[in-house]
Amino acid sequence: MRDLLPDMPGGLGVRDLWLARKGKMLLDVPELCLDGPGPTLILGPNGAGKSLLLRCLHGLIAPDRGRVTQGGEPLNDTHKARQAMVFQQPVLLRRSVAANLDFVLRRQSLPRVTRKARMAELLAEGGLDGKARQSARSLSGGEAQRLAILRALALEPETLFLDEPTSALDPGATQAIEQMVLRASARGVRIVMVTHDIGQARRLAADIVMMQGGHVVEHGAAKQVLDAPNSPASRRYLAGGLVT
Ligand SMILES: Nc1ncnc2c1ncn2[C@@H]1O[C@H](COP(=O)(O)OP(=O)(O)OP(=O)(O)O)[C@@H](O)[C@H]1O
Ligand SMILES: [Mg+2]
Repeated sequence: MRDLLPDMPGGLGVRDLWLARKGKMLLDVPELCLDGPGPTLILGPNGAGKSLLLRCLHGLIAPDRGRVTQGGEPLNDTHKARQAMVFQQPVLLRRSVAANLDFVLRRQSLPRVTRKARMAELLAEGGLDGKARQSARSLSGGEAQRLAILRALALEPETLFLDEPTSALDPGATQAIEQMVLRASARGVRIVMVTHDIGQARRLAADIVMMQGGHVVEHGAAKQVLDAPNSPASRRYLAGGLVT
């Protein structure tokens, strides 16, 4: 992997990560280094450990053994403050679209003028300009997920984790989210995203992490993993995924 993706400062890594519950191994990842320009897409069957890995990388779950590192240091609160997570089901406040964004922007002690400008930028970025005053709960599924992503982007994260953000959305809404993800990546936000959609992985990924049974079975450049996977588990998953 290091040959394919050059080392970059600020990379996110995992060393000897082990997580078990009730005597059952859930994650066993000796080494993973997400130091490329990304986006990184995580693929694998149900129960492979994709969401658990994302939660470990975000510091929501402490592994039983091993560590998550950021730029060579153990993940700390400063690193975590520069990470944001978007879930499959958007997590929003029962307030207006603008209030959802303002809630995040207010925590950054920006001057009022700057905050207003950021709000306008974010609304435009998510194509929600006309909906600032609408209740977030009345948004469509795609709009709600766009707002959830805007809330995450409002934190100006270094890393944005997304766990199957488009799995409940139609192709049009999915495309809008994919464009937001690509624009964030182009602005330098490190994207780490879980998907079951192989087409989406092909459209978005620079590199792909393939998981099965709590293990990373393959990590490589997207084209290599998708077109010439090295691991039998990757081949099985991709074959199944393409058939269904
Ligand atoms: N707190 C827990 N206690 C016991 N088992 C757990 C716990 N959390 C997750 N698991 C198990 O760990 C495995 C991996 O879960 P995870 O949610 O990471 O899978 P996933 O790859 O995200 O799957 P999906 O594609 O269905 O979202 C699953 O078998 C799950 O049941
Ligand atoms: Mg999951």
